[in-house]
Amino acid sequence: MQLKYKIIKFNTDEFGIKTESIKNEMPFELLIWDVNDIKISQLKLLIELYPEDKDVILQEAQHYLDNQLAPKHIQNLISRLSDVARKKFYAYKPFRKRSMSRFIAEHINNQWEVNNIDLLESIGFTQRADHPLDLRQLIRKFPPMALATRHSPILKALIKNFVAIISECEPQKKPTKIEVTCHQMSLLIDGSTPSVCNSPEGLHQDGSDYIVSALVIDKYNIEGGISQLYCAEKKGFIKSHTLEPGEGLFHIDKNSTIWHQVTPITLREPSIKIGYRNILGFDFNYIA
Ligand SMILES: [Fe+2]
Repeated sequence: MQLKYKIIKFNTDEFGIKTESIKNEMPFELLIWDVNDIKISQLKLLIELYPEDKDVILQEAQHYLDNQLAPKHIQNLISRLSDVARKKFYAYKPFRKRSMSRFIAEHINNQWEVNNIDLLESIGFTQRADHPLDLRQLIRKFPPMALATRHSPILKALIKNFVAIISECEPQKKPTKIEVTCHQMSLLIDGSTPSVCNSPEGLHQDGSDYIVSALVIDKYNIEGGISQLYCAEKKGFIKSHTLEPGEGLFHIDKNSTIWHQVTPITLREPSIKIGYRNILGFDFNYIA
């Protein structure tokens, strides 16, 4: 492992954890489509087509995300769409499946204990917006992880390794209690679109103290998906790497000069009309 700018590229082998056992304990096939992406694409299209109405679109955006019926002004703008724009508006499809779970990691008697925060319903999740037009500030609801998945001993073992790394990175701060959010995500591509992307917002920060921007568990019939880290202080990319199964990137996020993105994926062999990139992502925030 290398420590530079508090960025660590790791392989789960170093923790004594095999991706096969992660796949067995955390099946990706059963995840549910994230339909937030459809409405967010629609909102972006409305802002692009009606820039003078962006304030009212943003004011009603959360309502649009949360409800089946569109709020008044957005409904009015949809009704004014040209035929071409209307076709585009209603053609967006979901492209990733995901679930989420939360944990509290506590340093007790010289070791880390990880406990689930049990969530019965869909969980609201927001990210800090990088600019006022950033739709990630909207609260998106993600389904909770399957019960067996969120109680997976391997998932807890991964979290223990990550919080131990945070302790090493922050010898002064010495955090003793950390909130951990885990995202299980499957980015899928079929023959209907040329590419799909797991960071449609481009270069961004997640707004957490530390993150694992991606730990790749499985990939099938895809090209691309290059993880890129940008350093604002150096005004350039300082890391560009295509993560293979078992590999992940752990790094500092909030209030740092490090920004991240991942490039789109395409089908490696287009005649096989399915490809995917399955990852786990983690957000770590100090509580104490
Ligand atoms: Fe991110």
